[in-house]
Amino acid sequence: MSDTHTTHVLSLSRAEGAPLDPPPQYARLRAEAPISRISVWGGRATPWLVTRWEDARTVLASPGVSSQSSRPGFPTAREEAAALPPGYFFGQDDPVHDTFRRALTREFMVRRIEALREPTTRIFAELLDGMLAGGGPADFVEAVALPLPSLVICELLGVPYAEHEFFQSHSKVLIDTAAAAEERIAAHEALGAYLRQLVEDRRRQPADDLVSRLGAHVEAGTFSVRDAADVGAFLLFAGHETTANMIGLGVLALLAHPDQLPRLYAGKAELANAVEELLRYLTIAHTGLTRMALEDITVGDVTIRAGEGVIILLNSANRDADVFDDADTLDLARANARQHVAFGYGIHQCLGQPLARMELQIVLPEVFRRLPNLRIEPGRDVAFKQTSAAYGPSFMPVTW
Ligand code: HEM
Repeated sequence: MSDTHTTHVLSLSRAEGAPLDPPPQYARLRAEAPISRISVWGGRATPWLVTRWEDARTVLASPGVSSQSSRPGFPTAREEAAALPPGYFFGQDDPVHDTFRRALTREFMVRRIEALREPTTRIFAELLDGMLAGGGPADFVEAVALPLPSLVICELLGVPYAEHEFFQSHSKVLIDTAAAAEERIAAHEALGAYLRQLVEDRRRQPADDLVSRLGAHVEAGTFSVRDAADVGAFLLFAGHETTANMIGLGVLALLAHPDQLPRLYAGKAELANAVEELLRYLTIAHTGLTRMALEDITVGDVTIRAGEGVIILLNSANRDADVFDDADTLDLARANARQHVAFGYGIHQCLGQPLARMELQIVLPEVFRRLPNLRIEPGRDVAFKQTSAAYGPSFMPVTW
């Protein structure tokens, strides 16, 4: 059955003048070829491409799929992708994945995340004050969206305040696709060495923070110091650019829909729903989640054979009109916004989602409350990161 399907080339190019919408070809694929072959690595591999919400959930929830990118033929973005260390557990299968995920589950429960609300509010106010003090115009990405999540992750991990600047500056280089490869490797090594030292320090002198609790797992023999430091680096990698992009895109989407701004102030539930709808509409994980079938899996009229790769397009699934009425419209009052798959689905579903939600629920209403005249600087353009794994603005010139 698989051989009768046409092979496409995946384009991440968005339509001219529609930077917040997925590439237009996705709507056609959902209608005409919801599961099709896609050509990657210059035609050397043809994994399956899944575009509909229902099928995306079926594949992601299947116990027969692997996330382990070191498997030969796994549909990573680049053919020569290196194997990830175990602490980067989004790229591991159980039981390795489960060991790390279990060690962290409590860190993202309501009580712990609520404890980060006050620091997040304070960090955000300081960053905004800093931007305003410059008199404007300013790059909102550089001034607010990018530093906020990495400073919040400092709080989450327990990085001492005096070392925030060191952590923040290396973290910024790490996710900067324009930085030279050597610079990024150096930043990665500096952060790794820093985190290993922090784990060792907290093993000797535990505090009430995530790194101390990772240190306790090292003491108990669950994993090594190296693994614990890798988990810290992975949390930074997973939670920095993603949240930064959602903040930037969220502001842009709201600037384009000023009539919907009152929903942010209509109550706690309305604000929470507005954030869910923005997550659905903007779906920043735009290059698709990658998996490999370990057994034959039937999805719709297709059998994905054991050993075949699959790419699941979350930004297509979240615009599926079978699930979301008028799916291409931003509607902050949408009743089923929470059904989105912007955080993935199944055993690897985003662990940091309560933190991401909390940050967005603080930042978005507060930006427009403090800066009711916020706008893009006339005559200048917002620049977008087209090919990075998380879609978002790289430059956002604002005035207020
Ligand atoms: C709006 C912001 C965010 C978005 C859209 C997002 C999206 C995602 C997605 C789609 C996955 C699934 C990957 C897969 O199945 O292959 C994921 C996994 C993950 N995310 Fe997030 N994420 C965000 C913020 C965060 C934050 C703030 C953190 C923590 C600081 C975080 C930590 C993680 C972790 C640890 C995983 C791996 C879970 C596992 O494999 O079990 N994320 N995220």
